[in-house]
Amino acid sequence: MNILGIETSCDETAAAIVTDGRRIVSNIVASQIEIHKAFGGVVPEVASRHHVESVTRVVDEAFRAAKMSWEDVDVIAVTCGPGLLGALLVGLSAAKGYALATGLPLVGVHHIAGHVAAAMLTDEGHLPALALVVSGGHTELLRISEDFRFARLGGTIDDAAGEAYDKVARLLGLPYPGGPEVDALAAKGDKDAFSFPKSLLDDPSYNFSFSGLKTAVANTLTKKRNAREDISVADVCASFQKAVTEVLVEKTARAVLETGLRDVVLAGGVAANSGLRAALLARADSDGFRLHMPPLALCTDNAAMIAAAGYYAFRRGAVHSLSLNAYATLSMDRWQTDAQL
Ligand code: KG4
Ligand code: ZN
Repeated sequence: MNILGIETSCDETAAAIVTDGRRIVSNIVASQIEIHKAFGGVVPEVASRHHVESVTRVVDEAFRAAKMSWEDVDVIAVTCGPGLLGALLVGLSAAKGYALATGLPLVGVHHIAGHVAAAMLTDEGHLPALALVVSGGHTELLRISEDFRFARLGGTIDDAAGEAYDKVARLLGLPYPGGPEVDALAAKGDKDAFSFPKSLLDDPSYNFSFSGLKTAVANTLTKKRNAREDISVADVCASFQKAVTEVLVEKTARAVLETGLRDVVLAGGVAANSGLRAALLARADSDGFRLHMPPLALCTDNAAMIAAAGYYAFRRGAVHSLSLNAYATLSMDRWQTDAQL
C-alpha cells in the first residue's frame, strides 16, 4: 500500500510517499528555517504564506522522485494537528483537494503519532512500547499499544524541551533554531560548571517543566553580565543540556520500571540531540531496555513519518471525510476518538 503523506504543521513543507508504513519511496522537505532565522523564530503568518507557495510543488517533487503517479497511490495522509493553525490548514486544504480530485481516501494524522512512526520506518517490531516525544512544540511520555494506539503518561506543563533549547540559545545570542547550536557547544563545555534546576525530577508524575530552567539560565547570565564576569557559553550549554537530559532520562527509565515495557522509542526534533541520545542509550544498557531512535534526518519534521502513521491508522480503519478540520491543539485521545481508532 502506497501512502502519500503531507506535513505543514510548522516551518517545513513536506511530502513523501511510503510503502506499507516501512519503505520510503520519496521524502521531500522544503525547510523555511533560513526565512524564519531573520526573525529569531517561526512567524506563523510567514510560515502559512510559504506553505501556500510550496505545497503543490513539494507534492509534485515527491511523485517525481518516486517515479510514481496518482494511480500508484492508495491513501492520502495529512497532519491535522497539533501545530500552527494557518500552516496546518494549507496542507490539509491541499490534501482535501487531492482527495476530492482523485477519490482517494483521506486520513488525518496526529503530528506526534507521526514522530513516533518515524522510529518504525527503519526499525520494526518493537510494539508495545513507551515513547518519549521531544520537539519544539511537545514533550510527551506515551504508551503505545501493539496496534498503534496511544495512552498519555505525562508531558510538559509549560515549555517543550525544544522550546527551552531555542529560548536558551536566544539568550546566548545563538541563531534559530537553537537546539543544534546548543548541542554542538555543549559537547565542548563543562556540564558541572553551573547547577541548573531539574524541575519535577522527584515528582512522582510523568510531567515535565522547563520554563524554570530557562529562567534560571537567564538569571545566571544577567548576574554574570552585571558583575562583568566572563561567561563560557559552552559551559552554560553543557550544564543546561545536563539538566534537561537528566529529567528526561530519569522519567523515561521510571516509566520502563513501572509499566514493564522494555522498548522505548525516542522521537521528535530533540531526539537529534547527541547528549540525550547518549544518556538514554547508556541508561538502556544499564537498565536493560531497548532504545529505538529514528535516524537524524527523520527526527525533525518530515512527511514520511506522517505517511507511516497514516498507514497504521488506515489499517485500523481510520478514514476522514472532506469535513476534516485542522486543530492547533489536539490531544491524542481526541484524535483517536475522532478517527475511531
Ligand atoms: O520536531 P521538530 O522538527 O518540530 C516540532 O514538531 O516542534 O522539532 C524542532 C525542535 C526545535 O526546537 C529544535 O531546536 C530542536 O527540535 N532540535 C534540537 C536538536 N535538533 C533539533 N534540540 C536539541 N538538540 C538538537 N540536536
Ligand atoms: Zn514535529
